Amino acid sequence: MAASSSSFVAILTLSFFLAFSGSVNAQLSTTYYSKSCPKLFSTVQSTVQSAISKEARMGASLLRLFFHDCFVNGCDGSILLDDTSNFIGEKNAAPNRNSARGFDVIDNIKSAVEKVCPGVVSCADIVAIAARDSVVKLGGPNWNVKLGRRDARTASQAAANSRIPAPTSNLNQLVSSFSNVGLSTRDMVALSGAHTIGQARCTNFRARIYNETNIDSSFAQTRRSNCPRTTGSGDNNLAPLDIQTPTGFDNNYYKNLLQKKGLLHSDQQLFNGGSTDSIVRSYSNSQTSFNSDFVAAIIKMGDNKPLTGSNGEIRKNCRKRN
Ligand code: HEM
Ligand SMILES: *[C@@H]1O[C@H](CO)[C@@H](O)[C@H](O)[C@H]1NC(C)=O
Repeated sequence: MAASSSSFVAILTLSFFLAFSGSVNAQLSTTYYSKSCPKLFSTVQSTVQSAISKEARMGASLLRLFFHDCFVNGCDGSILLDDTSNFIGEKNAAPNRNSARGFDVIDNIKSAVEKVCPGVVSCADIVAIAARDSVVKLGGPNWNVKLGRRDARTASQAAANSRIPAPTSNLNQLVSSFSNVGLSTRDMVALSGAHTIGQARCTNFRARIYNETNIDSSFAQTRRSNCPRTTGSGDNNLAPLDIQTPTGFDNNYYKNLLQKKGLLHSDQQLFNGGSTDSIVRSYSNSQTSFNSDFVAAIIKMGDNKPLTGSNGEIRKNCRKRN
């Protein structure tokens, strides 16, 4: 009797400790759906792979969705909600409008997942897995994705505008926007390596290629050919963020920065005589250290303020609240 009551106290103490140990993401786990949806990973992967086979850029677009989801009140699928006559979502916030893409692919993944395990997997978790599968498909590192997030019933266009960093940001602004979500300067530099894939619109790099001096002049010349100086019809013309291998996930992004060939003002801020130069140099020299820091940082980003327990919901359709 004495033994069983003291072990009861021990278990009680342990559960208290686990519940209040301070980690807001204590409930996320890489095996969260292993019983409830054993086919989850293969289902997501096959849809992501076929989308990327059709268009390699889609891998970049899916990775960016995860970033833009996580930076606005946690990774909660809020970016996926459509605007309606009585609901303002995040899709028309400045960083997303005419820019964020891949929503149809997320819908396709969700339909495929609903077929194998209806009502079980959140849209927020689908975005997290699709981002990982995209990086892997384009030649980058693999990692175990932590899962168990629930979907938001709210979204915030204002928070999307203020929390997602702008390409006009200077180094201090970049550091502080990442520190706002618990990410270090080193995490910020590693995550920026995502710009080793994907495209940007002329409107986001025009000022850099016409007006800045910390840019390679032949690179600027090349980019000017498809991005007219004056605002207007060329605004949505695209250029690769990584001039060397725009569909390969590698460390060429950092090598470009060493040569003043960062496409965005914010990219070149990471190597412009400041405190992050040494980190950029080290990633440019080592694919391995970039890969391992990128993985650590993206897992950390995914831990940002998840909805768990009875908060939020498991959406049926990623575009709408249930
Ligand atoms: C450091 C601050 C960052 C800034 C200022 C920034 C800004 C931008 C901008 C302006 C674009 C081009 C959008 C357009 O022209 O339509 C872009 C594209 C992209 N960003 Fe970032 N970004 C940042 C960090 C990140 C992070 C952390 C990730 C992911 C981990 C990421 C992933 C991407 C990808 C993959 C694309 C290409 C998307 C596509 O081709 O559809 N970015 N970013
Ligand atoms: C370059 O800078 C000048 C002077 O600030 C400004 O008037 C002009 O609009 C800028 N051009 C571009 C393409 O940003």
